[in-house]
Amino acid sequence: MMLNERVTIEVTINGTEYEDTIPARTLLSEYLREHRYLTGTHRGCETAKCGACTVLLDGDAVKSCNMLAVQIDGRELTTIEGLADGDDLHPVQQSFWDEHGMQCGYCTPGMVLSSVALLEENPDPTVNEVREHIAGNICRCTGYAKIVESVMDAADSMEGQYE
Ligand code: FES
Ligand code: FES
Repeated sequence: MMLNERVTIEVTINGTEYEDTIPARTLLSEYLREHRYLTGTHRGCETAKCGACTVLLDGDAVKSCNMLAVQIDGRELTTIEGLADGDDLHPVQQSFWDEHGMQCGYCTPGMVLSSVALLEENPDPTVNEVREHIAGNICRCTGYAKIVESVMDAADSMEGQYE
């Protein structure tokens, strides 16, 4: 496939199916923000280091700046816009709100989605496991303590949900 070739992808994002024709070179982060207007997927480093662009691909946390949109053809994606149920925040979002797990909020969508993936895999993590899991998500504001408290609070409030 030539990178300037246009390709059609079919993807389910936040429960809705889409078919889009895009240049083959389009990054997943670019596709989400500029073709689907899902701007909660933030761009930071664009070199797979900061985690601001994290989304869930078939339930796994991935860095969307590090993938081409064509790689999600036929797959299911969740962005931060798809987590809440109407006005009801996802328990992880609620915990970040309750425990003040954010300051400027730039890292927050990625932190929240990364934490959702962790709790799905490990519903009862230790503080060290949380720290280890979010090591790929950089926050320049909080010093991480409140973020870790938020994830631990979410694990408590979601007890049993994934079991
Ligand atoms: S923008 Fe993707 S990891 Fe930083
Ligand atoms: S809250 Fe500002 S970068 Fe994390």
